[in-house]
Amino acid sequence: MAKKKLNKNWLHDHINDPYVKLAQKEGYRARAVYKLKEIDETEKLIKPGQVIVDLGATPGSWSQYVRNKLSGSVGGGINGTIIGLDMLPMEPIADVHFIQGDFREQEVLVQLEQVLQGRKADLVISDMAPNLSGIAVADAARMIDLIDLAIDFAQHHMKPSGSLLVKCFNGSGYSDIVGKFRDEFKTVVQKKPKASRDKSSEIFLLGKTLKNPL
Ligand SMILES: C[S@@+](CC[C@H](N)C(=O)[O-])C[C@H]1O[C@@H](n2cnc3c(N)ncnc32)[C@H](O)[C@@H]1O
Repeated sequence: MAKKKLNKNWLHDHINDPYVKLAQKEGYRARAVYKLKEIDETEKLIKPGQVIVDLGATPGSWSQYVRNKLSGSVGGGINGTIIGLDMLPMEPIADVHFIQGDFREQEVLVQLEQVLQGRKADLVISDMAPNLSGIAVADAARMIDLIDLAIDFAQHHMKPSGSLLVKCFNGSGYSDIVGKFRDEFKTVVQKKPKASRDKSSEIFLLGKTLKNPL
């Protein structure tokens, strides 16, 4: 009974959510796009010519936004490279190279490396979140694991001057993640974009310029 009410409340909020309406109007696949857009507009992250890796890309609104920012030439095509990765399938987006696989698996990392062809990314963005079990400590550990892997990926495959943006939850283990970011990046900024629901402990961490690139 309580669960039914919760679902009904969620549905009510979702239908009346201005970002859901705006995403539908502007042709984006998810309201999540407005989180990236707000961060990009204040931090000026995405620029033509860049190599950008989008981790946890499905259904694809971040990749759509990045593609729009890298396009502009008459006659289509983009100026830059976009690689999206997700364990779930994604409807294709023109000019986005998509890899389906689990970021925690070595063979998926090898596929990413093959697409990069030795190039280093300018920007790595991660909206990945584990499926939540409801057990706070276990969920936090899985989130930290994904973020650790994203930091490790950035150290190996991002330009020293690049930036890493990751989604986190401001709960158990959060201060450790911030500490890790401070160890690895010269500048660390915490972001709570307006489209991130107030009720949610979701927060984004942006690290700029690697301290210890490999
Ligand atoms: C909130 S959604 C991303 C929404 C996306 N940024 C957009 O704008 O459309 C989070 C995604 O992370 C993916 N994900 C979670 N853990 C992952 C993992 N270990 N490897 C790859 N993808 C993962 C999920 O499958 C899910 O599609």
